[in-house]
Amino acid sequence: MGIKFLGLLMASVLIAYYFYSPIPENAEDRWKVMLINTLYRTVGHVATIAEKLGFAHHMDFLKMMISNTDYTPPLSDEKVIVEDTKFNDVPVRLYIPKGKPDSLKRAVIYIHGGGWCIGAPSMKSYDLLSRRTSEQLNAVVVSVDYRLAPKYHFPVQFEDSYAVVKYFLQRKVLERYNVEPSRVCVSGDSAGGNLAAAVAQQLLHDPEVKVKLKIQVLIYPALQTLDLNLPSYKENADMPILPKSLMVRFWSEYFTTETSLKEAMETNQHVPAESSDLFKFVNWSNWLPERFKRGHIYTTPSHGSSKVGQKYPGFLDPRAAPLLVDDVKLRGLPLTYIVTCQYDVLRDDGIMYVSRLKKAGVPVIHEHAEDTVHGAMALTVSPFTLTAGQRIENNYIEWLNENL
Ligand SMILES: *[C@@H]1O[C@H](CO)[C@@H](O)[C@H](O)[C@H]1NC(C)=O
Repeated sequence: MGIKFLGLLMASVLIAYYFYSPIPENAEDRWKVMLINTLYRTVGHVATIAEKLGFAHHMDFLKMMISNTDYTPPLSDEKVIVEDTKFNDVPVRLYIPKGKPDSLKRAVIYIHGGGWCIGAPSMKSYDLLSRRTSEQLNAVVVSVDYRLAPKYHFPVQFEDSYAVVKYFLQRKVLERYNVEPSRVCVSGDSAGGNLAAAVAQQLLHDPEVKVKLKIQVLIYPALQTLDLNLPSYKENADMPILPKSLMVRFWSEYFTTETSLKEAMETNQHVPAESSDLFKFVNWSNWLPERFKRGHIYTTPSHGSSKVGQKYPGFLDPRAAPLLVDDVKLRGLPLTYIVTCQYDVLRDDGIMYVSRLKKAGVPVIHEHAEDTVHGAMALTVSPFTLTAGQRIENNYIEWLNENL
């Protein structure tokens, strides 16, 4: 009897632990979010065990469980032609709308999320998003299948994305796809938002690219790793989908698989002393509106004694951290649409970029989703559809329809 009771108690504690997440009562689809989170956590824990036992790298395991099992072939339907091809040697999935075949079209270059480690255009959620975008905007969509960590590190992810955008923006290529050169946008979510922001910045200073982007869209983007103790990191450290521990792992994995960088990032001591002047670009006490600062006191991140920051300087590079450029480099960026979510460690990255872009005179539209978690827009495949995710997607496509 006693043993049975103890077993039951332990099982309940375990289940409660697994289901429990600190997402507030008023969050939309709270139970669904908890359920998805339980699933993600389980996969994460199994990945940790697999890695400890030497079966697979943590991220390779996640890739196998998440992006590979979710593969959808490039199937054309009655409205959109879908094909896998290569631009500049980088694989892309292309969506060409069948409607009004002779009219000049708009184009969206889409860069998927997944922490530079997982995800693919062929994942059901991204395939659906690209289809809907193509169909509803009568636009050509180019979904970039850039190479991933841990096999490839920075700047490969950036360079693959850049190579695709640069290829597509050539007049002869735009002509081939019947795209109006003045109506092209780059768009991405999460790590893809990071890559989209970096690509848009680099294009401004590339004399070989003559066609300009009309719009950049950054959906809950990651934009800096200098300070991993922003109020949003503190408030949402254990939030579903993207806890701080996973974000730190993604960031460090973008630069190296060696664990010393991750360890330094965990304690926010990875920035070398000689790079202190960069902190001004991510000083949240200057760049966040009052309501997001409430209850927090700014402290400058400390410097570690380790040489890890010097060894992997990639995280100080604006191609990895688009917030780390001065205002002059932000001027001239195209009309920008930024989405942030309240319960997201990356919330303040996006909000700080909104402030910085505005100050530099770039037109910005900021959509803040009050009631949801990171990654909501990618959670639009049943049975895991989040109402907030659908809303973000609908608003985004509607906004593109009016502005692209
Ligand atoms: C951050 O901003 C605050 C308030 O303006 C200022 O007191 C502090 O010195 C700044 N720190 C850094 C590292 O920029």
